[in-house]
Amino acid sequence: MLTRLYFDILREIIYENTGIIFDDKKKYFIENRVKEHMEELGLNSLKEYIYRLKTDKRAIKEFISKITVNETYFYREYYHLKALAKLVQGENQRLPVKVLSIPCSTGEEPYSIAIVLNEVLEDPKKFEVLGVDIDINAIKKAKEGIYGKRSISKLPSQYLKKYFDQVDEEKWMIKDFIKKRVRFYEGNILDRLFIKSLRKFHYVFCKNLLIYFDDNARTQAINNLYDALMDGGFLFLGHAESISRSSSLFEPVKVEGAIVYKKVSEEDEDEW
Ligand SMILES: C[S@@+](CC[C@H](N)C(=O)[O-])C[C@H]1O[C@@H](n2cnc3c(N)ncnc32)[C@H](O)[C@@H]1O
Repeated sequence: MLTRLYFDILREIIYENTGIIFDDKKKYFIENRVKEHMEELGLNSLKEYIYRLKTDKRAIKEFISKITVNETYFYREYYHLKALAKLVQGENQRLPVKVLSIPCSTGEEPYSIAIVLNEVLEDPKKFEVLGVDIDINAIKKAKEGIYGKRSISKLPSQYLKKYFDQVDEEKWMIKDFIKKRVRFYEGNILDRLFIKSLRKFHYVFCKNLLIYFDDNARTQAINNLYDALMDGGFLFLGHAESISRSSSLFEPVKVEGAIVYKKVSEEDEDEW
């Protein structure tokens, strides 16, 4: 049974490391994950467990992996992929087209982006996609590129045939020629220097993460993504997420019925 004190300490540790806020209703969820993790580590005191989280990088990464929500699938929020296709066709950007998917979870989003770009540009060498997520286990799965029925249920069947090899009745593996265009890193959206080190992208997808953040973390994440975009680049947010109207960093634009956010130029940065 987690006492109020330990629940608060654990929430603080999660917030410090991810930006995610857990309210009181999530106590039972956290309690179960902690119990499971303590068993795996062979620990039976919470005091010892907290000490371990504070001092052992591997342990904190495992814990984060247990409490993250990795829900995702191919062709999720298809209207954004349509908008991306439209923008890529219309803009005369420098090749290769560079796209960042953060958070990418188990890889369905960045691979969907790669499929769309391959359809539009008709040459895998004309684009590069990078997937980033804080969850080490999600990144491992993304690198494997093997998916079950649930993940591919919204993917049009002609693309399943074109971009996947069937492994067995229940599993499909992304083909090598498209897999090679997508790289994956483990990383935190709130880590400014890490995001800066990725260099600049034409398009950034940041979907279904900011809903778990408080205002402070959300602002920090948006600022980091601003830095990750080239001048005139576009930010895609999830349907429940938006940038405040007062933000001077981005201008909302409607593309194919979807709202996307165009970066307002920095004076002396590189353009596409
Ligand atoms: C619901 S998934 C969204 C995946 C995909 N963008 C989509 O919309 O289908 C949320 C992901 O955010 C990741 N995440 C949580 N905090 C993060 C952080 N601070 N930095 C990077 N990724 C984070 C989680 O590990 C999880 O995989």
